[in-house]
This record gives sequence, structure tokens and C-alpha cells, in this order.
Amino acid sequence: MASNTRTLAVVAGLLSLGRAIPFVSEPATTVSVSATTTVSDVPVTNVTSHGPFTGTPTTTGALSTDVIAASVDALPPGPNAYKYPSDGKLHGKQPAPYTPSGGLGTNGSAPVYRVQSDFDYQSIAVALYQEWIELDLFHWGLAQFSAEDFEAYGLTAEDRHLIEFMADQEVGHATLLSNILGPSAPVQCTYNYPVSNVREFIDFNQKLTRFGESGVYGFMNHLDAREVGQLLLQSISTEARQQMIFRQFSGLFPMPVWFETGIPQSWAWTLLAPYISSCPGNQTRLIWQNFPALYILNQPNPARINGSNAWNETTGGWANTLNTTDIKPEEGCRNATGVGINCDPCITRNRSEPLSYPGRQVFLEWDSPGQPVGPNNSYVTSTSAKKPQFAAWVTQLNVTYSPLMNVTNNTAYTVQPDVSVFEGDPAINGTMFLAITDKDLYVTPFNLSMLNPHVYALALYQAG
Ligand SMILES: *[C@@H]1O[C@H](CO)[C@@H](O)[C@H](O)[C@H]1NC(C)=O
Ligand SMILES: *[C@@H]1O[C@H](CO)[C@@H](O)[C@H](O)[C@H]1NC(C)=O
Ligand SMILES: *[C@@H]1O[C@H](CO)[C@@H](O)[C@H](O)[C@H]1NC(C)=O
Ligand SMILES: *[C@@H]1O[C@H](CO)[C@@H](O)[C@H](O)[C@H]1NC(C)=O
Ligand SMILES: *[C@@H]1O[C@H](CO)[C@@H](O)[C@H](O)[C@H]1NC(C)=O
Ligand SMILES: *[C@@H]1O[C@H](CO)[C@@H](O)[C@H](O)[C@H]1NC(C)=O
Ligand SMILES: *[C@@H]1O[C@H](CO)[C@@H](O)[C@H](O)[C@H]1NC(C)=O
Ligand SMILES: *[C@@H]1O[C@H](CO)[C@@H](O)[C@H](O)[C@H]1NC(C)=O
Ligand SMILES: *[C@@H]1O[C@H](CO)[C@@H](O)[C@H](O)[C@H]1NC(C)=O
Ligand SMILES: *[C@@H]1O[C@H](CO)[C@@H](O)[C@H](O)[C@H]1NC(C)=O
Ligand SMILES: *[C@@H]1O[C@H](CO)[C@@H](O)[C@H](O)[C@H]1NC(C)=O
Ligand SMILES: *[C@@H]1O[C@H](CO)[C@@H](O)[C@H](O)[C@H]1NC(C)=O
Repeated sequence: MASNTRTLAVVAGLLSLGRAIPFVSEPATTVSVSATTTVSDVPVTNVTSHGPFTGTPTTTGALSTDVIAASVDALPPGPNAYKYPSDGKLHGKQPAPYTPSGGLGTNGSAPVYRVQSDFDYQSIAVALYQEWIELDLFHWGLAQFSAEDFEAYGLTAEDRHLIEFMADQEVGHATLLSNILGPSAPVQCTYNYPVSNVREFIDFNQKLTRFGESGVYGFMNHLDAREVGQLLLQSISTEARQQMIFRQFSGLFPMPVWFETGIPQSWAWTLLAPYISSCPGNQTRLIWQNFPALYILNQPNPARINGSNAWNETTGGWANTLNTTDIKPEEGCRNATGVGINCDPCITRNRSEPLSYPGRQVFLEWDSPGQPVGPNNSYVTSTSAKKPQFAAWVTQLNVTYSPLMNVTNNTAYTVQPDVSVFEGDPAINGTMFLAITDKDLYVTPFNLSMLNPHVYALALYQAG
């Protein structure tokens, strides 16, 4: 009884204070703040000229210096790799309260957001090329196709605003990476997109952002400059969201995997360069390799009800993006009726007929090396691999090999393996990478680039 009385007294006391109690939802005054100085954006042309390069290159080949060996030798783990006990106890003095010993960049020295090696420079430079193409591509699509085209495909004014916002994000990413590199940073180029309608535009974006995202995951943890890695992480996590949104716009299951894969820089450059038609003649050049194109002859077609039932429905090798020309109206999943059948843009879609599956025969064809590619046709495809013998399925945390069958001239087929990362997570799904190699070298996510000397040709595969 006594305690009840006290409670009432407290409540009464509060009430008597009346308006003196500040309510956060009722601001007492209107405050205005002036904007702080903003870093200016790098100069951009939001839609550049388009089409293939027709001139003659003034320079050819990747950047290079003295090359010490044909490949990096494989070594055992470093001497201290197994030293730390990982037993949940503390094993060093604490630098400060609540602060465990160890870590990189944790000793209090001021961060410096600048590249610290050729590795850092070349990695950030290829990432910058990627940001530039995305910036142009998203704007280009919005300008190229009418509001009616987008509406007919099922993308509303709100959806188009989202694509415009993604283009604006790329201005920020290009500015960030340009500032990190300094005055020699690669600038915006002109591009050539194999896209003739909204459906193909969305598919191209979905595939291009996949190798943009995976290209950064492949090198980020190898950077000398941890500070740069931090900023890059905060940009690439935005790009990852773009990739997923373009999958949703494609009527695909947004994220059919448990892990997103990383790829080496030369893979990202191989897949990106064919869509750059020309850059300024004095553009800073890259060290990375351009592998020959791999064509997936029966690349699964996400615009079909039965996506695996496709033959030669791409716009070419490398990214193997969608060509909608041969889809008859009754075969398309857009506007088709029923769960598992319909693939209108949406948060998520089930697909009754999987795009690809273990046991599927995948028919391949590839180019020989020595072809001009990339900006101003000034890079040349190359490989150091011998005759291709394996298909390397690069997905999630795994590289899985399947043998190439009936290898004649530049064609073969292979069979999609049945492999899981962990129980319940089939490894091969989503937008992933397929390389043909001369060896089934054992590699894992942190040393995938050790495979480069064995890669003959490279493609994106639409596994789900
Ligand atoms: C602190 O760590 C950085 C690397 O993060 C290193 O460059 C620097 O020399 C270290 N400073 C001291 C005083 O040990
Ligand atoms: C180009 O950028 C301007 C300013 O951001 C914008 O108003 C315009 O719509 C853009 N043009 C295209 C084709 O996206
Ligand atoms: C789907 O239906 C919409 C609305 O009826 C129409 O505008 C569009 O052309 C159709 N698209 C296809 C691919 O049939
Ligand atoms: C290329 O030339 C332009 C125009 O002369 C100049 O502004 C730019 O700094 C040059 N870029 C490089 C990397 O030298
Ligand atoms: C889908 O296409 C595959 C490959 O062409 C074929 O084996 C399968 O029977 C088709 N499924 C249906 C339901 O038609
Ligand atoms: C694929 O189609 C193209 C035309 O789009 C044609 O030139 C090429 O020969 C075809 N390839 C195969 C393997 O059918
Ligand atoms: C798309 O396919 C059609 C029909 O096979 C072909 O004529 C056309 O050249 C292809 N488009 C591209 C960009 O490859
Ligand atoms: C979607 O697919 C999942 C997994 O195959 C299934 O469990 C679920 O019932 C499907 N949903 C619908 C609405 O068909
Ligand atoms: C890929 O993921 C989708 C969505 O979870 C699932 O429906 C499909 O069965 C998966 N494909 C394979 C081959 O596991
Ligand atoms: C592979 O080659 C064998 C023997 O020449 C032939 O019987 C078979 O049909 C070929 N398979 C394919 C898918 O071409
Ligand atoms: C392979 O190429 C050679 C030379 O062009 C040609 O004579 C031969 O018929 C080709 N083989 C096959 C199986 O296409
Ligand atoms: C796939 O990767 C996971 C994680 O590293 C590993 O546990 C598993 O053994 C790999 N599976 C195969 C078939 O290599």
C-alpha cells in the first residue's frame, strides 16, 4: 500500500511539471544549419558517345616492367600461421581498456588514404574503370529507352529513380577512387553496350555489377593500404546492393547463394574491357591480363520460362549477356501466369524450372589468344595455358573442376558438377564465373589468382 502511494505521488509530480518536460517530438525552436563544404565530384559526362572503336591503337599491350618469373611459386603457410591458440583466452597485454592486442592499423598512427604499392595502384585503377562504366551505363539506359519501354517491361517511375540514384552513387565512387589515386587516375571513357531493349539492359547491369563486386572482393584483403581497403569496402557494399536489385529487376531470386565470390583483377578486367571502346590517348594503362573470350553456347536465359532451354542466346563471349531476339512470346516468363513461371520485376521470384542444375551439359566455344580488345583496341588477349582440359566453376567459397569432353578445335562440353559449400548450400547458383583451364589446380578464395597461369578463357555463367 505504501509503495503504491509513493508511485502515485511520483506520477502526480511529473504531471505537475507540465510543459517543462521536453518532448523530443515537439521541437521548441526551429533551427537551421548551413551546409559544410562538400568535396567536388570528378568531372563526368553522364552519357558519353557509344559504339565500337574504329580507329587504330597508338599503343598496344598491358603495362609491364621487368618480369622475374613466369608464375608465383606455391609455398607452405607462413611460419606463425598456426601459432595463435584460438582458445578464447587473452594472450597479450591490452593496449588500452576494452582493447585486445593485435590487429593492423590499430596502433594509433593516423590513417593515410593513399595507395602504397603497384599492387594497390593497379587494383584501385581497375576498380575505377568499373565505376566509370557503371556511371555511364545506368545513365545511358535511362536516356536510351523511353518511359513507355520501361513501363512495358514492368519498371515504374520509382524504379527508374532508383536506377538514377545508382548512377549518382557511381559519381561518388569514381570521385573517391580518383582522389585516392591522384592526378594520374584513369578518367571516363566511351563505351559500347550489347543491349537493344530494357530486358537486355537490366541483364547486362546484373552481370556487369557481378564482376564489379567480385573483382573487388578478390583483391581487397591483399591491399597494402588497409585504409584504402576500408573506403573500398564501404563503396563495394553499395555495389553489392545494386547487383541484387538488378537481379530483382530481372525477375530472379535475389540471392541464391550463402557467399559472394571474389575473382582476381585480371578476371574483372577481362570481363570489363570488351565494353570500353575508347579512352583518352594518354590514359594511365593497366598491368592486368585479358583472357580470350569463352562462349557459353547454351547460356541459361533468365527471360525464358524454361531458362535452361536456350541455344546461342547471348550477345557474345566473356559476360555472355542476354540476347532476347529468339524468345517467342509464349516462351517468355514476363507476363506469364503463375508462381514459379512469372518473372516480372519483383522483390523475389521462385523459378519452377531451374536455369541450371547438376548434370546439365554445358556447351563451350572459345577464342584463340592474340585478339585486340578493350579501350582503343589497345590490349591483346593472351593466355599461358596449354590445351584446355577442365572447366573451373568459381562460385561462393569454392573452385570446382569438371573435365572438358569432346575437345575439338575450340569447342567442348562439360557437365555441371553437384557440389555444396556447406550442407544445404549448393555451390553452383546465381551469376557466377566459368573458366577453362589446363589444370585442376587446388585454389581457395585467398589465392585464386594462382590459377591465372592455367586459365585459357573466361566467361560469366548464369547458373540461377
Ligand atoms: C603503426 O602501424 C603502422 C601500420 O598500420 C606502421 O606503419 C607504423 O610504423 C606503426 N607505428 C609504430 C609506432 O609502430
Ligand atoms: C544527366 O545529369 C543531369 C544532372 O544530374 C540530369 O538532370 C539528366 O537527367 C541526366 N541525363 C541523363 C540522360 O540521365
Ligand atoms: C506485358 O504486359 C504489359 C502490360 O499488359 C505490356 O505492356 C507488355 O508489353 C507485356 N510484355 C511482354 C513481354 O509481353
Ligand atoms: C592527359 O591529357 C589531359 C589533357 O591534356 C590532361 O589534363 C591529363 O592530366 C593527362 N592525363 C595523364 C594521365 O597524363
Ligand atoms: C526445359 O528445358 C530443358 C532443356 O532443354 C528440358 O530438358 C526440359 O524438359 C524442359 N522442361 C520443360 C518443363 O519443358
Ligand atoms: C550463334 O549466333 C550467331 C549469330 O547471332 C552466329 O554467327 C553463330 O554462328 C552462332 N553460333 C552457334 C554455335 O550456333
Ligand atoms: C542476337 O540474336 C540474333 C538472332 O540470333 C542475332 O541476329 C543478333 O546478331 C544477336 N545480337 C547480338 C548483339 O549478338
Ligand atoms: C518457392 O520455392 C520454395 C523452395 O523450392 C518452396 O518451398 C516454396 O513453396 C515456393 N513458394 C511458392 C509460393 O511456390
Ligand atoms: C538456386 O537457388 C534457387 C533459389 O534458392 C533454388 O530455387 C534453386 O533450386 C537453386 N538451384 C540449384 C541448382 O540448387
Ligand atoms: C562426343 O564424342 C563422341 C565420340 O566421338 C560422340 O559419340 C558424342 O556424341 C559426342 N558428344 C557430344 C555431346 O557431342
Ligand atoms: C578442326 O579444324 C580443322 C582445321 O580448321 C578442320 O579441318 C576440322 O574439320 C575441324 N574439326 C572439327 C571436328 O570441326
Ligand atoms: C567448398 O568450400 C568449403 C569452405 O571452404 C569447404 O569446406 C568445402 O570442402 C569445399 N567443397 C569442395 C567440394 O571443395
